[in-house]
Parts: sequence; C-alpha cells; structure tokens
Amino acid sequence: MIEPPLPSLSFVGAGSLGQVFAALIAASGQPVTLLATPPTAARLREAGCIRLRGAVDLEIPAAPAPAPAGTVGVTADPARLPAGTGALFATKGHQLAGAIQAVRAQWPPPGDAAGWVGGLQNGLVKDDWLAGAFGANRVVGAATILGAKREPDGRVTVTGLGATYLGELGGGTSPRVTAAAHILRQAGIPVTEAADIRSALWSKTCNAAGVFGVSVLTRTSAPRMFRDPDLIRAYLSLVRETAAIAAAHGVALGDYASFPIRTFLARGDEETVAALSAPAPGSDPAATGAHLPSMTQDLLAGRALEVDEVFADLVHRAERAGVLVPRLRLVRDLLRGIDPGRHRG
Ligand SMILES: NC(=O)c1ccc[n+]([C@@H]2O[C@H](COP(=O)([O-])OP(=O)(O)OC[C@H]3O[C@@H](n4cnc5c(N)ncnc54)[C@H](OP(=O)(O)O)[C@@H]3O)[C@@H](O)[C@H]2O)c1
Repeated sequence: MIEPPLPSLSFVGAGSLGQVFAALIAASGQPVTLLATPPTAARLREAGCIRLRGAVDLEIPAAPAPAPAGTVGVTADPARLPAGTGALFATKGHQLAGAIQAVRAQWPPPGDAAGWVGGLQNGLVKDDWLAGAFGANRVVGAATILGAKREPDGRVTVTGLGATYLGELGGGTSPRVTAAAHILRQAGIPVTEAADIRSALWSKTCNAAGVFGVSVLTRTSAPRMFRDPDLIRAYLSLVRETAAIAAAHGVALGDYASFPIRTFLARGDEETVAALSAPAPGSDPAATGAHLPSMTQDLLAGRALEVDEVFADLVHRAERAGVLVPRLRLVRDLLRGIDPGRHRG
C-alpha cells in the first residue's frame, strides 16, 4: 500500500517571505520545498544556505529538492513541488499570475486530490486568481504580518515574527489548515487558525490601504506616521472607505494584533488620533522610527508597486458594489503615477 505523503509545505517565491518561512521550517527539522526563479535557485544552491538575521539569527542549509528534512529543498522546476501538500505563494502581487500559470502547468499532478494552495500577498485579488487556476476548493485563505526584507548581501532580515492567519475561505478551519498551522507553529512562527479568514483578510487590507496610501505618498515610516495626527486622520479615512467595501460584501471586520480595525471604526477618529499619537510611557519622543512599509521600500528602491493588486482591486470591488471611494481612487491614481514599475524602458 502506498503511504499518503506526510503533511508538508512548499513556498513559491524565494524572496523575503519565502526564504524566512522555508528556513524556519527546515530549522525545526521538517521537510520544506522552495520554488525559486532560476537565478535565485542557482544563487541559493551555490551559497548552500539561507541566512536570516534580525528577530532570528540562523544559517540553514539549502540543497537541490528533494532535500532531507532540516535542509531547504530548492528548485526552479514546479514539477518538483511535492504532491498532496500545501503550496503557499510568496511572490509579489504583480508576479503572481505568472507564478500561478507556471505552477498550474505542472502541479498538482494528476490524481493528487489533496494538494492545496494559498497566497501571502497583500490585497484580496490573490485568492480569486488562485481559485481561477486551481479551483476554489483547493484554496486556503492566508495572510501574514511576518516582516522580512532581502539584503544586498543575500541575507534576509526578519523585522518581526508577526502572526500568520490561515482559514478556509468558506469559514472555519479544516484538517489541512490545522496541519499547516502545526508545521508553522513547530517552526516558531505564530499562527492563528482563523474562524473567519475573510474578516482577517479584509481587516488586514483596511490597514494596508491606510498604511501604504499614506506612507508611500508621504515617504514616512510607520512609527512616524502613527505619531502624526494629520497622517493618522488620512490613514483612518482610507481605512473607513475600505471598511465600507467590506460591509457591502457582508464581511465583519475585527481586531487583530497590530491592526485593531473594529476598534478604529467603532470610535470617533479623534479618539484614535489621541490614542495613537500619545507617546507610550518610557518612549523617546525624539525617535522617529526607521521601519518603512514594504510598498514604501519598493518605491525608494525603484521596484514595481503592488498598486493594482491592492488599490485598483479595491476600487474595482467598490464600483461593482456601488460604494463611493474617492480617496482610494485618488491614491490608486497617484500611486500609478509614481510607480517605478510603470516607467521602465
Ligand atoms: N516582506 C514582508 O515583510 C511581507 C509581509 C507581509 C506580506 N508581504 C507580501 O508578500 C508578498 C511577497 O513579498 P516579499 O517581500 O517576500 O517579496 P520579494 O522579496 O520580492 O519576493 C518575491 C519572490 O518571488 C519570486 N518570484 C517571482 N516570480 C516567480 C515565479 N514565477 N516563480 C517563482 N518565484 C517567483 C521572486 O524572484 P527573484 O528572486 O528572481 O526576485 C522573489 O524571490 C508580497 O505581496 C508582499 O506584499 C510581504
């Protein structure tokens, strides 16, 4: 009798997030496969390891897939993704369609009824694209606020081991969600099996619309932004517009670690301004904080912005639901205007 494969996870995209998730899983002695572009696969195989620093300081061996448990199995060939397991896409939003197409052409193999997919991208459109390619029943809702950043020397800085949320898009959890959560927990990655993953996804998107919209256009760090009353008001105005789209889609927003959206919506904005801009006891009022949100980092580094996957998608959803979102529309247009990805060549 053929034994079913042990639960394991794969990651599509060996960038900041993909490397951190894969390395932490391997470090905990579990099998993991990392599908990279050919140049990055070659670089990782040549280096023979993934190096993390920051919130975790680790050097984890990397070798061609399939690799033994404890080593990150790296490949550029989607056919090497193991059958019967979960594949989490960790490309940028604008790279996702290409990655989905490449993976779907090879995986899951015929007869593999258990293989499933999830997307870690910001925004909501990822799950529609995954469902369109793999079938809705193969898609698990996923979101993460784990923070990571690739460095020029090849290392990845882990800026924060924030929570990862997993759940069935139809609501609740399932054996495959619980198995994936167990793998991540074993790896020291905080995980919540969300009873309502759509609430988590939309709440995170409310926060992303506010943070990216304000931070990219004003080039401010998140800590600096959340100390400035005017920027907090601008953030909240984008949160409220996004929340109106969520309401039109019947989604109940919630309070999550680092984005208490339900609380922001329930009270007056000036109360939130006062709460956020008040210096925390013992904090240094002169410190501005250096943490730049990822889209702001992308702008400053001349990389393409995930404008369409976050903002244009929200505007599109609002239009279809008959919700007016003039601020989100303005942010979409301004970001498109400065998007380095639109002005190459
Ligand atoms: N980083 C964070 O802290 C963070 C936190 C929460 C959410 N997110 C979201 O997560 C997503 C990934 O972010 P990231 O920071 O990890 O991005 P990233 O560092 O740019 O990594 C993306 C990776 O995907 C690879 N890739 C692109 N197309 C591919 C394909 N067809 N097949 C295989 N790999 C492919 C890229 O290849 P190359 O190596 O050739 O460039 C790169 O390694 C984004 O949507 C981001 O908004 C990020």
